[in-house]
Amino acid sequence: MSEQKATNVHWHGGEINRPERAQILGHSGATLWFTGLSGSGKSTIAVALEQALYQRGVLVYRLDGDNIRLGINKNLGFSAEDRAENIRRVGEVSKLFVDGGVIVLSSFISPYLVDRQIVRELHEADNMPFIEVFVDCSLEAAEERDPKGLYKKARAGEIKNFTGIDDPYEAPEAPEVHLHTDQQSLEEEVEHLLDLLEKQALIPPAAS
Ligand code: ADX
Repeated sequence: MSEQKATNVHWHGGEINRPERAQILGHSGATLWFTGLSGSGKSTIAVALEQALYQRGVLVYRLDGDNIRLGINKNLGFSAEDRAENIRRVGEVSKLFVDGGVIVLSSFISPYLVDRQIVRELHEADNMPFIEVFVDCSLEAAEERDPKGLYKKARAGEIKNFTGIDDPYEAPEAPEVHLHTDQQSLEEEVEHLLDLLEKQALIPPAAS
């Protein structure tokens, strides 16, 4: 856990609370945390789910590894320390969105168990729903897809510390959802997630 550097700082609460924001939106916030290898399908699923949720009138926002690394986290690389800081910041940003009432779809390789556990605990400490989605896909299948040509570069030694090649990926031990993107269709995966969100009453039921 990152240490608190600044002293003499205190939380300043407002007059409007989470349930009041949820009343405007018709749902509360939640984080769906997609973890898995590069090329496993995290972003593809998040994009499809975002569309499905939007069509149901849900306020949804995606936080995506590549996008975040072009902005707020542009000063971070891929060492274990930088990945930890990447995930810590995104965990905090996800929480802010959840507090605002948004369903957040956070897609990050997030290869280390401990970093994901910290994000989970950050949410649980504030009674915020946190759903870990393991986007499972064999390395062979991810490498075969290689949508950005990065595995090829990593195999050629042009990228160092590439997850799955010369950097570790620690699979979740007890994720809320375990998808197998080398065996399921995108439609099945989105349906599964929508069902879960409905069952947990995190989104309103589909209009019949
Ligand atoms: S994480 O490990 O810190 O969670 P994150 O999801 O933000 O990673 O970013 C991963 C993306 O960065 C990959 O999808 C890929 O496009 C790109 N990338 C570039 N270098 C690496 C690397 N060494 N390891 C993994 N991904 C990399």
